[in-house]
Amino acid sequence: MPWNLLLVLVGVQRLADDWQMPSQIAKIELTHLRELEILLNTCFSTPPKHSFFDDFPIWSSFESKDVRVVGIRSDSKKLLASCGVRFAQLRRGSEEFTIAVMGAVATAPDARGKGLATQLVNHVLDLARERKCEAAFLWGSEHALYGRLGFTLQGEQWRLPISHFAGSGAKELTLTKSWNPKIIDTIKLRKTGLKEDTLGASLKRKHTHVEWHWAEDQGRFAFVGFHRGIDLKNVIHEWGGDKDCLVQVLTTLAKSHPQLEIYLHPSHLDGDFVGVTKTDSKFVKEKLALCCPLEKSFAWKEPTWFWGLDSA
Ligand SMILES: CC(C)(COP(=O)(O)OP(=O)(O)OC[C@H]1O[C@@H](n2cnc3c(N)ncnc32)[C@H](O)[C@@H]1OP(=O)(O)O)[C@@H](O)C(=O)NCCC(=O)NCCS
Repeated sequence: MPWNLLLVLVGVQRLADDWQMPSQIAKIELTHLRELEILLNTCFSTPPKHSFFDDFPIWSSFESKDVRVVGIRSDSKKLLASCGVRFAQLRRGSEEFTIAVMGAVATAPDARGKGLATQLVNHVLDLARERKCEAAFLWGSEHALYGRLGFTLQGEQWRLPISHFAGSGAKELTLTKSWNPKIIDTIKLRKTGLKEDTLGASLKRKHTHVEWHWAEDQGRFAFVGFHRGIDLKNVIHEWGGDKDCLVQVLTTLAKSHPQLEIYLHPSHLDGDFVGVTKTDSKFVKEKLALCCPLEKSFAWKEPTWFWGLDSA
């Protein structure tokens, strides 16, 4: 093949790659998954014998075209920093829009304070703009760092101790502690949170720490999921199904797992949900997520909500 034709072909191939990087930032490939895992385990102080991927399997889901992890290496090719992005559809009532969910932002301890995380987050925000995302979301306590990059705390997350249901008087049910495919069918009907797709469904099963409990009573089905990981331990972050059956499930769980709390958005309480009113003083109210608008037209609106397994 003539050398000039070869150059043209290489050029075309590069143009076709929508993940082209500036020289120092590169997509992390599947072959470097273990190296990424070591960086994340170190930076997030994952307990011995556990993996960061146990709680965040999204960042090892390299088979999905909607997931990318990018990194920066040293001259000797050691992985110094990482940042992950998942492109997804967010539901808000009858609306649906494209967003970027970010996570796995980490810099090796000896490489911190040199702007690596800033570079990677900015790079991923550019990728998200290219993918026409309206906004990017992430969760983290480094508000000064993310504030400089355009993120602000938004939204509402309400937390209620499950002991609230102990005196509900609802019938107690026999709960089954296991996965049930009906959980996905129920999740697909939600009007809030990420739209359930093939990736979301497979991730539900990869969260090995999550305990799923469900019950069926007179043809009605309800479920809860809790213990996502270190940051959502003792929190019911997934729930759904028939409302009366759900109250019965929560009433039953209040006896066996009195330490649990349930997360919800105030809009979930519309229509007399779970026999709780918005004015109940036991609610702990928190901000939901850090949000960076990417489209000029983007405006924060309620009810915007992420279920526990949506966050990254
Ligand atoms: C947060 C982290 C990714 C920053 O990486 P970095 O490459 O040093 O970041 P940059 O050099 O781009 O920016 C440094 C800024 O981060 C902020 N920062 C770093 N660690 C922080 C922490 N633990 N708490 C609050 N802010 C922090 C500082 O405000 C610093 O700003 P300054 O330069 O004004 O002092 C890195 O400290 C880390 O890996 N931490 C552990 C994992 C983690 O918590 N990740 C974020 C979860 S989303």
